[in-house]
Amino acid sequence: MTYVIEIWFLFSNFTSKIKYYMSGKIKKIGVFTSGGDSPGMNAAVRSVVRACAYHNIECYGIYRGYEGLMDGDFELMDARSVKGIINKGGTILKSARSQRFRTKEGRQQAYEQLKANHIDALVAVGGDGTFTGAMIFNEEFNFPVMGIPGTIDNDIFGTSHTLGFDTAQNTVVEAIDKIRDTASSHNRLFFIEVMGRDVGHIALNTGIAGGAEEILIPEEDLGLERLVESLRRSKKSGKTSSIVVVAEGDKIGKNIFELKEYVDENMEGYDVRVSVLGHMQRGGAPSCFDRVLASRMGVKAVDSLLEGKTNYMVGLINNKMELTPLDNAIKGKSKINLELLRVSDIMST
Ligand code: F6P
Repeated sequence: MTYVIEIWFLFSNFTSKIKYYMSGKIKKIGVFTSGGDSPGMNAAVRSVVRACAYHNIECYGIYRGYEGLMDGDFELMDARSVKGIINKGGTILKSARSQRFRTKEGRQQAYEQLKANHIDALVAVGGDGTFTGAMIFNEEFNFPVMGIPGTIDNDIFGTSHTLGFDTAQNTVVEAIDKIRDTASSHNRLFFIEVMGRDVGHIALNTGIAGGAEEILIPEEDLGLERLVESLRRSKKSGKTSSIVVVAEGDKIGKNIFELKEYVDENMEGYDVRVSVLGHMQRGGAPSCFDRVLASRMGVKAVDSLLEGKTNYMVGLINNKMELTPLDNAIKGKSKINLELLRVSDIMST
């Protein structure tokens, strides 16, 4: 019985490979990273390169995102070119935010470069700006593209996790723990700003994990009065120090330094400090979760292109690799978990 299953497995694996080769359209894939870098991008590049090697097709690394695409900054990569990078933060392919690619001339130039190098399809690792560029490029030139969501913000629809989100959260929690040590030693109130322009995933999760008194996110305007009230309440209940986690895109109407001033003026008994965590949240070795996710996404991206699929993003939905049309990934909303809001309220009692 076991032999029968094994032979069947080998055979089905073999036939699926034959199927790929018979489709035969895609012989060279280009991969690039674009927009804000995130931990796990290297692991994704490694996965795409190795999946191409597995299928006996060539893979080109494209440097500096769309900038390198327009300049023909390509390098043929094999399985060994990506050794020792799974654990590295940043991106060996470099990244950029390109204004030139927003123009028709820029995209035409990119197309000419791809044609000249006989590249048949692209894997774009990045966020919504990257996907918008890829989608327009696909529409204009009917060029096969596949997206891998790489951004710490987790603000992409069609995946429960973007690459780097898990690692960034761990980095932030470590920072909050450290700030808490000094906050409690001096009986201080700290406002800690974390990344998240449009969504509050990082703030909400790390605020709960770091034991924050309040969490300010773009999705919810807590209001200054309620914030001060809540801080007064927690002081009354015996707390001597407090942490408030603020997402950079928070809608309370004041930036984090103005918040400090407001609280200074409207609350007695707290020595207030501000800590902006900034770009350190984007660096560091990817977590185990991000490495596995990146490996799965790279394989799925190459498999899908070879199956003739295009203009999709690969994502994690219910622990399965699924495809979402790029258009939906860009326009759809990545929603925060409302249950977490309630949990955070209860925890700050
Ligand atoms: O998109 C990821 C992100 O880290 C945002 O959270 C942040 O607002 C932005 O990038 C910062 O971008 P830049 O690298 O241009 O400073």
